[in-house]
Amino acid sequence: MTFLILDSLAKRFGDFTAVENISVEIERGEFVSLLGPSGCGKTTTLQMIAGFVEPTRGKIAVDGKDITTLPPEKRGMGIVFQSYALFPHMTVGQNIGFGLEMRRVPAADRKKRIEEALDLVRLSGLGKRYPRELSGGQRQRVAIARALAIRPEVLLLDEPMSNLDAKLREEMHIELRGIQRQLGITTILVTHDQAEALTMSDRIAVMHGGRIVQIGSPIEAYERPVSAFASGFLGKINAFAGSVLRKNPRCCEIQVGDRIAMVPHEGREVGNNVNVYVRPEKLQIMPVGTGHVNGTVKTRVFLGSNWMLEVESPLGLLRVSQPNLGGIPPGEGEQVGITWQDDDLRVLAVEASHG
Ligand SMILES: Nc1ncnc2c1ncn2[C@@H]1O[C@H](COP(=O)(O)OP(=O)(O)OP(=O)(O)O)[C@@H](O)[C@H]1O
Ligand SMILES: [Mg+2]
Repeated sequence: MTFLILDSLAKRFGDFTAVENISVEIERGEFVSLLGPSGCGKTTTLQMIAGFVEPTRGKIAVDGKDITTLPPEKRGMGIVFQSYALFPHMTVGQNIGFGLEMRRVPAADRKKRIEEALDLVRLSGLGKRYPRELSGGQRQRVAIARALAIRPEVLLLDEPMSNLDAKLREEMHIELRGIQRQLGITTILVTHDQAEALTMSDRIAVMHGGRIVQIGSPIEAYERPVSAFASGFLGKINAFAGSVLRKNPRCCEIQVGDRIAMVPHEGREVGNNVNVYVRPEKLQIMPVGTGHVNGTVKTRVFLGSNWMLEVESPLGLLRVSQPNLGGIPPGEGEQVGITWQDDDLRVLAVEASHG
């Protein structure tokens, strides 16, 4: 059932349009990420949902009620701001309990819920400290605990893990996702971290220039990007030019270098120039002469769980990611072949490639 509706939401600051036209319907308990580069309007969108920024146009509804003009404190949403402002003169416990006090939760319950919230973010025992006595990552987790303590129906998170080190961030992704599922809180996360969006979301909305350019499950968004922007922002991608030679109801033949690839045609017309995209992990290194194209290894980098190679080929410089299965792939200067499954090629009209 649709729970949270953003209907044609827009925000202008003077002449500048920060958010162009955002419409999304979010299910109860769903986790949706707004993913996009700096300045694309993520925080502005979240602040409109929270009630701190008034939309220039559009509507917001929760559970069938129009809340577009409701003040923030009446929306009952748990919020973690990008700057996660904690009250400096209050202890961690008081910070977390603040919203509960405002809601007149009795002291004994409050204490219990503060402990629970601290436990959830793995900060048990730190309730008596002041924010200045915590690391940046710990403060960020206090901000998350404070938002969760009021047991909100809607949780809004603006880059809530930007100050955590990589390992803790990965752990928190999984933990927070677990907490969100367990409590069934409808959640909107703002992030520019694609791994964060992929790990936590039911759906990812890729934003660009104040608009949502694509919304879908993490797998859809990653595997079926609708534009060059979407494909490049969510993961790494190789792009090369191709043209449509022929088509039948199910697939079309695309000329890619010397080879003809059979790919789903998705409305591509014969004669059109297209851009062909393929993820680095969908390319495979082969002995020279046995792949679809030959090339020369320009760089080879060891990344632990995988190897990243850049191979100069007639299709351009191709990035190839190979899992580290123990062997060592060919080194710089060596000739290799490269192969792929045609199903893994994504073909976009040239115009979508600019979007
Ligand atoms: N109060 C304001 N007055 C004028 N312009 C604003 C205001 N708030 C935001 N903007 C502009 O609106 C655009 C979107 O800002 P927003 O903070 O929503 O971006 P963001 O996607 O959250 O970026 P980041 O990843 O850097 O946090 C930016 O160009 C920003 O400069
Ligand atoms: Mg922001």
